[in-house]
Amino acid sequence: MAKRKSKKSSRKTKSKAAKIRPKKISAFAPQDELKRELKISAIDEGTVIDHIPSDSTFKVAEILNLENHKGIVSIATNLQSKRIGKKGIVKVGGKSLTQEEVNKIAIVAPDATVNIIKNYYVKEKIKVKSPDVIDNVVKCSNPVCVTNNEKVNTRFYVVKKDPLKIKCHYCERGMGKEDIEII
Ligand code: CTP
Ligand code: ZN
Repeated sequence: MAKRKSKKSSRKTKSKAAKIRPKKISAFAPQDELKRELKISAIDEGTVIDHIPSDSTFKVAEILNLENHKGIVSIATNLQSKRIGKKGIVKVGGKSLTQEEVNKIAIVAPDATVNIIKNYYVKEKIKVKSPDVIDNVVKCSNPVCVTNNEKVNTRFYVVKKDPLKIKCHYCERGMGKEDIEII
């Protein structure tokens, strides 16, 4: 008993001294094997948008206005995918998407899968459908286009789906994915 007590007190002195030393990060770092296994956490309730082309990952976050979302939001990009090379995933806790949001996602991520999660299970898997006509979603990049100068809704025709090419109904300006600004 007495022996244990003395051990404890010596440890106490040691930890007091350690306070002024920087923490040893390696003591808390995961082991190599564990590191390789680290993934984005599953969500209990909400929506997972998967198979997003990497360069559209943050556009999806913008479409869903996730900056202001109060639930869990996990965004990962440049993940390895057998199907589309590199992909992004956006996981949103406590949110179900409207049809309008799904339609917008289809514009920047034509191969995306929208998974509806309930109680940790994938309850539904929706394959987005890219539209032929995009109404009032994308801003025309032409400053003199009527849609930028009068109260006229934008309208684009999808000329090519992958890589995306769209054409303004009013000024015929052609735009690619990189020019797309969501209204
Ligand atoms: N997922 C999640 N939380 C859950 C369940 C699933 O975040 N509670 C995520 C998974 O990590 C995956 C996506 O939702 O990114 C779809 O899950 P699942 O259908 O189980 O995966 P896959 O079979 O790989 O999907 P797919 O066939 O569409 O590639
Ligand atoms: Zn235009």
